Amino acid sequence: MDKLLIEGGVSLRGEIRIAGAKNSALPILAATLLTQETVQICNLPHLFDITTMIELLGCMGVQPIIDEKLNVEVNSSSIKHFSAPYELVKTMRASILVLGPLLTRFGRAEVALPGGCAIGSRPVNLHISALQKMGADIVVEDGYIKASVNGRLKGAHIFMDLVTVTGTENVMMAATLADGQTKIENAAREPEVVDLANCLVKMGADISGQGTDTLIINGVNELKGCSYSVMPDRIETGTYLIAAAATRGHIRVKDTRPDILESVLMKLEQVGAEIKVGENWIELNMHGKRPKSVSLRTAPYPAFPTDMQAQFTALNTIALGTGSITETVFENRFMHVHEMNRMGASIKVEGNTVIVEGVKALKGAPVMATDLRASASLIIAGLVSDNVTTVDRIYHIDRGYECIEEKLQLLGARIRRIAS
Ligand code: UD1
Repeated sequence: MDKLLIEGGVSLRGEIRIAGAKNSALPILAATLLTQETVQICNLPHLFDITTMIELLGCMGVQPIIDEKLNVEVNSSSIKHFSAPYELVKTMRASILVLGPLLTRFGRAEVALPGGCAIGSRPVNLHISALQKMGADIVVEDGYIKASVNGRLKGAHIFMDLVTVTGTENVMMAATLADGQTKIENAAREPEVVDLANCLVKMGADISGQGTDTLIINGVNELKGCSYSVMPDRIETGTYLIAAAATRGHIRVKDTRPDILESVLMKLEQVGAEIKVGENWIELNMHGKRPKSVSLRTAPYPAFPTDMQAQFTALNTIALGTGSITETVFENRFMHVHEMNRMGASIKVEGNTVIVEGVKALKGAPVMATDLRASASLIIAGLVSDNVTTVDRIYHIDRGYECIEEKLQLLGARIRRIAS
């Protein structure tokens, strides 16, 4: 298994390009199942999760064509199987995103029930109950969600008990081809949900309210092909900016979108960073200063994203003062804390809050990545350590960060991948 070896102590400096958003690319790939025409998807990030979704389409009989720029063309008219097997679902929970499209277009779908994962139990009950409200017959047996519908799904009034990103996406996709109008209340407002909605509208769907908590979808008879470019990844953007702030650096990230990162940029200003933005770039400059601790609470968009709390925890470990970080979205998202404490951090867990007392520097140690964003936070911890850190189980990071060591090297970091 590969490891990352990091020699800390370098301030990040320079410029990098941000990739397409994983969390938009995945539902958009699933949305290609909604039409028999070809959909071209551009700006796909080079990630393991994207490969897994392409493999999932492949095992249904759909063979995406990838060009030299990694644009992907998908034509689902050759589909033969309507199921997502456990072998793929267990490696990527977002496989659940094929449920709504398969059911609404073909009237049947079987998707392995995703199990728990490192950050909590993560049920999919809200996806299931919403589709049942639209007329689907769904049973869960032998570890599979087995769904079917006689004729078309029917538009329905759906109230989501909790804000769920992939739940909203699944139901929105199902509703595009349903009979009549679907209203989704307490819908997720995440930019990735908006990006998917924009792609669906380009395919001929009738959707309004995207970016608000109420989505109205009028079902149409069929959708058509289109070419769509995935939005930039706000979590990748935020991760590099936090790494630069933690290392007292000065970086510019381009091909990104500052307008969808307001809660994160505000926290970085509280840390003491000077932030400048243009339409598609963000520049962060610490002017060599030690960051100040920040406190934050995660919640659905537009509040502070759960996918960025571990990285701020890493920054707080070496910041001036004490900060508290409260996680309200997932139940078990502090696995990185124990690894950081092994590196000399001073972090206490109190329920769903961590209290981080900043120390001058961490001490490098061998650590283990437990989930995607936790791995990014351990890399940041390695960058602010006095000596060498090795991060094991980095397959987690390859799921969601494109060429992370190359991009960090471009910013001056001493980091390399070692095969073992
Ligand atoms: C998506 C993102 C993930 C991000 C998360 C929260 C993708 C591919 N992944 O995950 O990176 O961390 O949003 O922003 O877009 N819940 C239920 N029942 C359900 C569905 C969800 O109880 O049927 C709960 C979950 O356990 C969790 C909360 O709702 O506590 C939010 O989860 P959700 O928004 O669904 O996360 P994902 O869509 O899986």
